[in-house]
Amino acid sequence: MEKETRYLTFALTKGRLAKKTMELFEQIGISCEEMKDPDSRKLIFVNEELKLRFFLAKGPDVPTYVEYGAADIGVVGRDTIQEEGRKIHEVLDLGFGKCRMCVCGPESARQRLNGQELIRVATKYPGIAKDYFYNRKNQTVEIIKLNGSIELAPIVGLAEVIVDIVETGSTLRENGLVVLEEICELSARVVVNPVSMRMENERITGLLSRLNDVITQEG
Ligand code: PRP
Repeated sequence: MEKETRYLTFALTKGRLAKKTMELFEQIGISCEEMKDPDSRKLIFVNEELKLRFFLAKGPDVPTYVEYGAADIGVVGRDTIQEEGRKIHEVLDLGFGKCRMCVCGPESARQRLNGQELIRVATKYPGIAKDYFYNRKNQTVEIIKLNGSIELAPIVGLAEVIVDIVETGSTLRENGLVVLEEICELSARVVVNPVSMRMENERITGLLSRLNDVITQEG
């Protein structure tokens, strides 16, 4: 008796990243028409023919779904993967959503980054900030967790510097701040549940190699 194909489940990051991901998937013949309705509040979509299931989640939850196996595959920013530190395999750089994780602040804060005084660092990414300052720079800092509009912190005196994402740089420019140090480069990545990778190896590696071909062609 032929083994019945089970559904492969994808957790996508709701918003622009999910849209870009589906555009890329279309290029390898994977589409999901119901997902294109901009007014839909639906969170889960099925492609019956290919036995694929897609759901939309908040970025920081994508690695969680993948670690627990509720999704076999996830697409999420590298920032979130680093911050969440889940037991998942990062397998492919999709090449879009490119930006940088940086230490930013007013130019006047530059010298304080090299001194030994205790400075305050505001960020949405306390794990990344801690790793950078404690392990890479050997500098003790006080980390303050914020949830958005991080650029406000040095302006209103909550922190000397911030650790945040810089894409075009316009938020920094418009608020009189600059990049002081670069921590790492970021982009959208494919992550896979380690058990799924073993159990569905052929389907998953086939899919990854087709994605990789498209990305490489586009350069
Ligand atoms: C992100 C990031 C910066 C901004 C960088 O914020 O935290 O604030 O985008 O982009 P830019 O370099 O192109 O200006 P987002 O808009 O996601 O909102 P948030 O402030 O709520 O995190």
